[in-house]
Amino acid sequence: MPIPTSLDGRATPARPSVSPRVAIVTGGSRGIGRQTVGRLAADGYAVVVGYAGNQDEAEAAVKEAADGGGRAIAVRADVADEHAVAALFDAAEAEFGGVDVVVHAAGRARMAPIAELDLAVLDDLHRTNIRGTFVVVQQAARRVRPGGAVVTFSTSVVGLAFPGYGAYSASKGAVEALTLILARELRGRDVTANAVAPGPTATDLFLDGKDEETIARLAAQPPLERLGTPADIAEVVAFLASPAGHWINGQVVRANGGII
Ligand SMILES: NC(=O)c1ccc[n+]([C@@H]2O[C@H](COP(=O)([O-])OP(=O)(O)OC[C@H]3O[C@@H](n4cnc5c(N)ncnc54)[C@H](OP(=O)(O)O)[C@@H]3O)[C@@H](O)[C@H]2O)c1
Repeated sequence: MPIPTSLDGRATPARPSVSPRVAIVTGGSRGIGRQTVGRLAADGYAVVVGYAGNQDEAEAAVKEAADGGGRAIAVRADVADEHAVAALFDAAEAEFGGVDVVVHAAGRARMAPIAELDLAVLDDLHRTNIRGTFVVVQQAARRVRPGGAVVTFSTSVVGLAFPGYGAYSASKGAVEALTLILARELRGRDVTANAVAPGPTATDLFLDGKDEETIARLAAQPPLERLGTPADIAEVVAFLASPAGHWINGQVVRANGGII
């Protein structure tokens, strides 16, 4: 069989056997992460479901994956706790033999005008969203196998600059910066790093605390005239994680129905 070559004639790097691929999904108990667990399990990945405290939902995610014929386990790990996250990766390696894909969906949001935000809320938010992302991608940088992918989560609000989103958007700006540098630091490893930046998506994080009028106003904003669904976003993640999406690297993918 001929060795596949690039246009300049050099051999492309050989890929190790990729079956079954193993994915860690932080925030896998609910929302976008939960949908991603099911999507990746349906693609044949063995999945480790990371969660903060919602054990019932994490176990339900595992059951859904198993009901679809997939393999999954749930591991509790606060993403900002480096020991817990190291144990999460240890569990993936012990149970499934390694890590190919890390989807870091865990995150929190708190909205308030900058003039009014309690700084304790700022610290808490940034602990999860910035420190948590750093801790997770640090382990990913050390452990993801060749051919793999790291997917983090930003938000389209980094570009949209909605009032009230200052602390949250700042934390996600940090995620974008970190992810793009990670992609460059992974040179030679054959591992991609990209951020997905959803627009308004129908999950607890978006819906909680909003009245119907606000939800309807935001749903009407994209040209596609609806909220995103967790499935819309899970499809993007699954593509970025897959060999088919491997040429996309060091990008922020604004998955938002065209909202401006
Ligand atoms: N929904 C949107 O409109 C939207 C838009 C742009 C970006 N995003 C981003 O997309 C990602 C997923 O959001 P979502 O809407 O799916 O949120 P969600 O429905 O509120 O789910 C959040 C998930 O993150 C986990 N989590 C929260 N804090 C954690 C921590 N410290 N350690 C470990 N896990 C933690 C939760 O675990 P438990 O179940 O155990 O609490 C849960 O599984 C987030 O990064 C969010 O910022 C969302």
